[in-house]
Amino acid sequence: MKKLPLLLFLLLLTTLSYAQSTKAKPGTFEVGNKEFMLNGKPFVIRAAELHYPRIPKEYWDHRIKLSKAMGMNTVCIYLFWNLHEQQEGQYNFKGQNDVAAFVKLVQDNGMYCIVRPGPYACAEWDMGGLPWWLLKKQDVQVRTSKDEYYLDRSRKYLKEVGKQLAPLQIQNGGNIIMVQVENEYATFGSEQEYMEEIRDAVRNAGFDKVELFRCDWSSNFNKYKLDGVATTLNFGAGSNIDNQFRKFQEIYPNLPLMCSEYWTGWFDHWGRPHETRSVSSFIGSLKDMQDRRISFSLYMAHGGTSFGQWGGANAPPYSAMATSYDYNAPIGEQGNTTEKFFAVRDLLKNYLQPGETLGEIPAAKPIIAIPAFQLEESAPLFDNLPKPKQSRDIQPMEMFDQGWGRILYRSTIPASSERRKLIITDLHDWATVFVDGKPIGKLDRRRGDNTVELPTTAADARLDILVEATGRVNYGNAIIDRKGITEKVEISDGTNTTEIKNWQVYNFPVDYAFQKKVKFKKGSANGPGWYRGTFNVNETGDTFLDVSTWGKGMVWVNGYNLGRFWKIGPQQTLFMPGVWLKKGKNEIIVLDVDVPREAKVAGLTKPILDELRPDESLLHRAKGQQLNLANETPVAAGAFPAGNGWKEVNFDQVQHGRYFCLEALNAQEEKDPFTSVAELELLDINGNPLHTLRWKVVYADSEEVTAGNNAADKVFDNQESTFWQTQRTGQKPAHPHQVVIDLGETFRIKGFRYLPRSDKSTAGMIKEYKVYVKEEPFKL
Ligand code: GLA
Ligand code: CA
Repeated sequence: MKKLPLLLFLLLLTTLSYAQSTKAKPGTFEVGNKEFMLNGKPFVIRAAELHYPRIPKEYWDHRIKLSKAMGMNTVCIYLFWNLHEQQEGQYNFKGQNDVAAFVKLVQDNGMYCIVRPGPYACAEWDMGGLPWWLLKKQDVQVRTSKDEYYLDRSRKYLKEVGKQLAPLQIQNGGNIIMVQVENEYATFGSEQEYMEEIRDAVRNAGFDKVELFRCDWSSNFNKYKLDGVATTLNFGAGSNIDNQFRKFQEIYPNLPLMCSEYWTGWFDHWGRPHETRSVSSFIGSLKDMQDRRISFSLYMAHGGTSFGQWGGANAPPYSAMATSYDYNAPIGEQGNTTEKFFAVRDLLKNYLQPGETLGEIPAAKPIIAIPAFQLEESAPLFDNLPKPKQSRDIQPMEMFDQGWGRILYRSTIPASSERRKLIITDLHDWATVFVDGKPIGKLDRRRGDNTVELPTTAADARLDILVEATGRVNYGNAIIDRKGITEKVEISDGTNTTEIKNWQVYNFPVDYAFQKKVKFKKGSANGPGWYRGTFNVNETGDTFLDVSTWGKGMVWVNGYNLGRFWKIGPQQTLFMPGVWLKKGKNEIIVLDVDVPREAKVAGLTKPILDELRPDESLLHRAKGQQLNLANETPVAAGAFPAGNGWKEVNFDQVQHGRYFCLEALNAQEEKDPFTSVAELELLDINGNPLHTLRWKVVYADSEEVTAGNNAADKVFDNQESTFWQTQRTGQKPAHPHQVVIDLGETFRIKGFRYLPRSDKSTAGMIKEYKVYVKEEPFKL
């Protein structure tokens, strides 16, 4: 009974403080005639995208002020459902997750806010923001109204978001001017009913007054319609602005224009070169937009860090995101100003609206160096196994109630003097296989590895498969991405294949509480394990932990999970926010599932984001390999018209085949030695694109993978802003250029579509081409 008065008191207190923080007058924000209207006056949105989970909350204010100093009047945010509901039905909006506090802070800084609650976000975030526990439902479908469970959970989540943020709509005196429905849905589906469901769920969650909008691409925004919701477009640095909005303006001549994601840079993948976008091309298109009074949001103004387990992945081919989300954005990962930052500030000061002034640049956050030190203690993974679960069939980690981390599957293989193979279907995402405790092979999903040779064994032997899950796919149709081993493990001697059953399963979650419990001893773990050390600092400050001597794993400092590392780079440091350090002694734990070269760490004053150390080439051409088309007959040949946009070619006859080859004979511009392709789609007999889930590039005569991330698999990554380009550093090979794709199964193919690069450069745009389709592999 004593509790009641206290509760009442607390309630009163929160109501009072709430009333105080929203004392601003109610306002209006509407879609007007060719302009957005704020409180009845034309308004150009200049938004900075920031992700509060990617910034320690102590730094929120700093990053908001930096955005304002760059010339922004609005902050745009995503909410990630899986951050706020990590276990089904348990919501957390406190501390680092206190999104309402973040939005109020934006208001305290005199800025407006655009909110993008999902349920799906993308954002290079684990599963695009969808919670892992949805995957416990065997046949779950997402981003569709065909799965009532998914829809019901989405609605419940949105209701919780509404409780936090609906009071902050501008019409209530808050600063939220727009709320987004879903995210780039047209890249995934075209189900209008689904988008209507989500729109209604957003409204019913309490966002009943605010303007709603959706974002898509210039090439796909009219794939579905959504009444009562504004439409905006997303595109990247260096885009041709008139081209981007041409079709939109034809259809909606009187609507205001907005680029809801103007990509300032791009994200990094493990094992691929660091991505950058030049200041000049980025600023050029931004100026074009300002000259036309086009609203925009810089994605990202400041990317920050995908701490912990939150980095996502793309597929196919599977490729996980690096931990740093620096994004080559105007504000660097540490909250540092860059050349791009000053270029934006210099540009936007000329476009301020009456009464507006540029914000002051806040003081930089202190940076410290930490001399290299050794991690003296360790705990071998195999000496620290948790209690196992028994399972007749192998199953992914979600079925054992594990969201993220590592999982060990243990069983027995019978004695044999024959050579045998172990076949894993499917491995998500990286594994070491041990027989009787000895490592016998490493498998990497990026390369589609699924087999290891087994040694002969005189007696029954213990089989251990230690799997590390990297990010869940956050984009496209491969988004149902369960972790661990998804289906089965078999032994094959060439004649017989048997499935291995009766597993002991050990779960290694990512929580600090779990890592803390392992038993450390002086000395080095010989193989996968935890390492622990301490270091002293006199003054706290941000630093970049150099983890370049380690293999693959995760780092916790004073209980904070700094994220994943992987020796292949390009990122070799982890951002260590100074606010998570203590004066005096600090604790660091490193879990390495591979093997460190040396168990040491140092704090640097600059990040290393561009040191690639591929452990194996991911190029699509072996040394000396040459595609031989001499005896092949093309199924189509011709010349593409010049210019941007999709080009479609229909074959004279429907083709049957599994292997597709596009050969570029020359480029639109004479003497241009390059070939570049942003996207390729193959069309089924109804003219719909074939699914790409099992596609693999088997050959590309040349690829640029050093100066830029222009590998051949960029032709089907479903991103129109990324492209394959032949080598532009070094030797610049001449035409013809070819790419060969294995479609994974035989299809009936009616034709294909080709999308040239969509930035302002025309280098490599194909003119004359030949196309080949075959049932059998091409001769290499
Ligand atoms: C899309 C998505 C974003 C993000 C960017 C790439 O535009 O909407 O969430 O994934 O691509 O960074
Ligand atoms: Ca692409």
